[in-house]
Amino acid sequence: MSSLNLALGRSKFGNPGNRDRLITLADAVALLDEWVPNERLRLHMRQIGSLMKAWALEKEGADAQTALKWQLAGLLHDADWEKHPESHCRIIIEKLEEMNIDPEVIHCIASHSPRYFGVEPENAMDKMIYAFDELSGFIHASALIRPTRYEGMDVKGILKKLKTPSFAAQVSRDDINDAISRIDHPLEEIIQFVIDHQKEVQ
Ligand SMILES: [Fe+2]
Repeated sequence: MSSLNLALGRSKFGNPGNRDRLITLADAVALLDEWVPNERLRLHMRQIGSLMKAWALEKEGADAQTALKWQLAGLLHDADWEKHPESHCRIIIEKLEEMNIDPEVIHCIASHSPRYFGVEPENAMDKMIYAFDELSGFIHASALIRPTRYEGMDVKGILKKLKTPSFAAQVSRDDINDAISRIDHPLEEIIQFVIDHQKEVQ
């Protein structure tokens, strides 16, 4: 991904008149099934969707509609990555704009990697998808090499692996640190949250 220029070149997404226009969870999953043949990548998006929904409900006091909004952003954030890596995430953004989806969902997806897309995370939803994206994959990679997977996993072990550059070397520690620096929650809390919630995602 590093050799690609994925900058979106804009900072406004969607139509403000579409506020609160969402699709159902079933429709989002159907879109994923169509766009993302790779099961591992679909699991990554279900994981981010679940983390976003759980965070909205537990930490932001969100209602069900707002939690769905967070979940949809997580579920769809990499939907175009497998088929259009050179245009990620422009394609899914344009698709959601065509579908007249809530602009906050689209902005959230557009800002999930500021280094690549050149879009700054603005609200809590934007900042949390950025915080979860790399950490979720890192913690899942850590679970896969443990005989008991997520069972008995602790924050200390994950922190240690983060300091081991050769482990899951493709996960950007710089992005993780940058994302954590933008929120009022310590890295340890986010790691614990991911461990607690991700193990249930199938
Ligand atoms: Fe992702």
